[in-house]
Amino acid sequence: MNPLLKNIAGLALLNLCISLAHADPYAGGDARIGKQMVEKSCISCHASSFGGNGSAIYMREDRLVKTSKGLIAQIRNCNTNLGLKWFEDEEMHVASYLNQNYYKFDK
Ligand code: HEC
Repeated sequence: MNPLLKNIAGLALLNLCISLAHADPYAGGDARIGKQMVEKSCISCHASSFGGNGSAIYMREDRLVKTSKGLIAQIRNCNTNLGLKWFEDEEMHVASYLNQNYYKFDK
């Protein structure tokens, strides 16, 4: 490829990455870690009260969480109520996982 085109292609890719990163309100959270945390500490109770595999609660029509701030607040409440002692960065992992799979807030 001609070097100028190569540069332009590289810049376009860089721009794409930057805009994708901004589309994630929980940048820095690791959804793979969050998934394990949710499976360990959260799913069984949601599944027993809302049925299914425990994810129906995030998808129900009258769900409580309406914004990305609301999601982190809800996770924080559960964390405190359950005495899990998750740190803030761990809450971000969980928020990132729930957002990527269910809530899909982009800001
Ligand atoms: C002991 C049972 C229990 C456990 C454990 C639990 N939850 Fe919940 N959770 C609930 C109930 C009940 C609701 C619904 C509250 C309502 O509808 O008023 C809820 C609601 C939620 C919602 C809001 C869903 C919506 O409507 O948008 C989120 C998010 C959530 N929980 C996250 C978590 C996370 C993260 C954990 C693990 C740290 C967790 N929960 C652990 C019982 C539990």
